[in-house]
Amino acid sequence: MTNTILAKNEIAKYLNSGLNILTFDEINSTNDYAKKLAEKRPDTAILIVADHQTAGYGRFKRDFYSPSNTGIYMSLLLPINKIETDLPTLKACVSTVKALRLNFPNADLKIKWINDILLNNKKISGILAESINDGKNGIAYVILGIGVNLNTTDFPLEIQDIASSITDSVTVNRNKIIADIVNEFFKINHAENFLAEYIRFCGTIGKRVELVNGNQHIVGTAEKIKSDGSLVIKDDKKNLHCFNSGEITKVYLK
Ligand code: BTN
Repeated sequence: MTNTILAKNEIAKYLNSGLNILTFDEINSTNDYAKKLAEKRPDTAILIVADHQTAGYGRFKRDFYSPSNTGIYMSLLLPINKIETDLPTLKACVSTVKALRLNFPNADLKIKWINDILLNNKKISGILAESINDGKNGIAYVILGIGVNLNTTDFPLEIQDIASSITDSVTVNRNKIIADIVNEFFKINHAENFLAEYIRFCGTIGKRVELVNGNQHIVGTAEKIKSDGSLVIKDDKKNLHCFNSGEITKVYLK
């Protein structure tokens, strides 16, 4: 693979505005690093990017496969007294899809509610938003963790059927795509129509799905996404159920 080497000055070159950037060859997890940084109470946004992660993780503490040179593993640490954001997972999904569409215009990307991005029904990207409470005034920082499989080919056996990459091209400009994701995020952060864009990119709506939320297990049709980002599912008895967490474990083709 000959993807671009991650470089702070290259990322900065493509950014629309200044940002503190930290790059690493290897890290356990960019989200974990962001949590440590938050303890120092920075008052500006910080972008942490790594070539590979040894302990990258996603929702439900699942491993996020993060090999060297073929993916994007980034976290944006946002002090929310300076940079307010609501529905960060949804916003990060929209920004990532938009940035990927800019760079791969032929890729038919779909969001799987709530935090996955799929290409041909396989996951090519996952988002993990975490918040840090300051113990007094509530949420002090939001961490947006974004992982993208750009041209990864050697997925572990257990995820080979469900994971994929966005391209088989061997030359991808990771620095530009990282900057595009950040630029898109800051563009939509206060945009009123971002939810409409999330819904437009969301492949879950209208599909028959199975959702697991703790002990709850429901099969039905994904009806809509509400303004708070929750998913409404209509079961076979026509009862409506609203979820703001949980995981779609199956999407039926018919
Ligand atoms: C998921 O699939 O549930 C979300 C995956 C999020 C992975 C990214 S990679 C960068 C950041 N660091 C992590 O450890 N996780 C996120």
